[in-house]
Amino acid sequence: MSETFEPRILSFLCNWCSYAGADLAGVSRLQYPPTMRVIRVMCSGRVDPGYVIDGLQKGFDGVFISGCHIGDCHYIDGNLYTLRRMAVVQELLDLSGIGRERMELKWSSAAEGQVFADNVKKFTQQIQELGPFDPAPWSLSLSALERTLNSPRMRWLVGSSRQLTEKKNVYQETMPEADYQAIVREAAAEEFEKAMISVVIAEQPRSVREMAELTGLPVYTVSKRLNELERKGQAGLSGYDGRTPRFLGVPV
Ligand code: FES
Repeated sequence: MSETFEPRILSFLCNWCSYAGADLAGVSRLQYPPTMRVIRVMCSGRVDPGYVIDGLQKGFDGVFISGCHIGDCHYIDGNLYTLRRMAVVQELLDLSGIGRERMELKWSSAAEGQVFADNVKKFTQQIQELGPFDPAPWSLSLSALERTLNSPRMRWLVGSSRQLTEKKNVYQETMPEADYQAIVREAAAEEFEKAMISVVIAEQPRSVREMAELTGLPVYTVSKRLNELERKGQAGLSGYDGRTPRFLGVPV
């Protein structure tokens, strides 16, 4: 790691707490690294998971999100949704190989200038240890992550998380948290595999073997996911190269 590497961190700060905390840190002359490029949002719940991926695609070295402490959200439960959504983003960052360490979610109040400054210092140090993030070699993974997070299945699972785990259904049952997490993990892995295939067949027809080479997935997995994409009308046979079938994505 270069001694002079100064990370560029995209940060989303909730107007009511962390942004005010950052302000307090400033007026209190608390020292913290000038690594943050701040976007003020009205609630951490306003931060779409896709913003994290977008930040990395644009070449930021890390993404930092900070909101009110649990129980203090000015919109009651916005930060509870943030917690759920960002857990899925971290899971996907791990799956892609980029690693969850590129993203951080922290809580701090308007009165906690020191906590905010410490959080910034700690995350900056973490990114310095990881080194700069170059999006170019990760472009397939980043596009696939974007698609995964936008897939109706992941949107529904993330959006319904509290409904499923906290509220009773008509049989007076709630889903155990561990079961929900297992379902999310499995869905994230499957959707990410399908998304990678979708990306590589979006522009030009490919054979199954080419898809396997480009995505790093086993041929068996590519065949299975391709089949699922075909059943949903998101991929189709485009022609033959000799006796080898080639498939092309269908825009959704
Ligand atoms: Fe601050 Fe919701 S208002 S996290």
